[in-house]
Amino acid sequence: MSIESLKALFRPELDELSAYRVPPAPPAVKLDANESPFALPPEARARIAAVLHATEMHRYPDGRASELREALARGLGGSPDEYVLGAGSDELIASLATAMSQPRPGAERPVVVFPDPTFVMYRITSRAHGWEPLGVPLDGAWDLDADAMADALGRTKPNLVYYASPNNPTGNCFSRDKIESLVDAFPGTLHVIDEAYGPYSGQSFATFAEDRPHCALMGTLSKVGFAGIRVGWVRIHEALSAELEKVRQPFNLNTASQAIATLALTDLAPLLEEGITTVVAERERLATELDRYEALQCFPSDANFLLVQYTGAVPELCRALLDRGIAVRQFSTGDSRLRSCIRITIGTPEENQRFGEALSDILG
Ligand SMILES: Cc1ncc(COP(=O)(O)O)c(C=O)c1O
Repeated sequence: MSIESLKALFRPELDELSAYRVPPAPPAVKLDANESPFALPPEARARIAAVLHATEMHRYPDGRASELREALARGLGGSPDEYVLGAGSDELIASLATAMSQPRPGAERPVVVFPDPTFVMYRITSRAHGWEPLGVPLDGAWDLDADAMADALGRTKPNLVYYASPNNPTGNCFSRDKIESLVDAFPGTLHVIDEAYGPYSGQSFATFAEDRPHCALMGTLSKVGFAGIRVGWVRIHEALSAELEKVRQPFNLNTASQAIATLALTDLAPLLEEGITTVVAERERLATELDRYEALQCFPSDANFLLVQYTGAVPELCRALLDRGIAVRQFSTGDSRLRSCIRITIGTPEENQRFGEALSDILG
């Protein structure tokens, strides 16, 4: 059998997709991936080392991750059974696409709707599962276009809608009343509010979602200091979490990740809060600094990054920054407005200062 005939067995939707790639060698100042910039201090590392020392690595992990789900319920509300865990929230986007793939009556394929631009994995993962993705353009202020969203929801009858609020890559929270009205107007769809950057916004839909079984919340530890352990969750009505549990790989969260995540949500929570407070203060400081350049327009941000429009050539600016050891994110495909923007993750105060100096060197 030739390789061509084997390749013909792969889903046709994969022809439209490319693998997610990250640059091989990290630069000195990494402001391109929306991670927390703070490495753990020695005392926190020692706590983690002690906990890992006591774990039974020769056994399979706790398949239900009971301790971690209890810590989530204590910290964020609800019951442990409402939480489904994934190796990052990326895995949960895939679990939702696997489990909720029955098209609505009258539809040929399951449909997912999201505002555009937004987090790319909603589109990529849905497509890779054979879903029909529909991006609804954001308005001029990067807010939801409530009429266009309502039209899309009424017309296409999606199984799922994603709202990342704060949104990546635009940084803003969507108007709360627009999300709430859409959720209430379309109870036949599962509305997933992705609060990956919620800790930097001081906002949450936890209370709103509580008595709405068709509204789920997604969260992650990746943006607040633990991107390396890959732990995310979806909080969803127990009747639906029970269905999602059926498609979850039995041991998807390894023992070390479970133990570290539990610590992150309990003993280390004050340390995470400190990091968040510093990043928010640095975000405001950096935004003021960038606004002084005529060539730059900084959009309001509720997240741990800034989206900045540049009137010059974006690839050249990014290259000049990289020559100075600084990586930021640029957008070569997708929304045309984004192509004139760079996204800057907030670093440590020292990294932000280095970024500011490099920018002043380049832009004068
Ligand atoms: C809005 C949003 N949701 C989810 C994720 C994925 O997070 P995780 O690392 O938990 O898979 C990202 C990562 O960039 C994101 O921007």
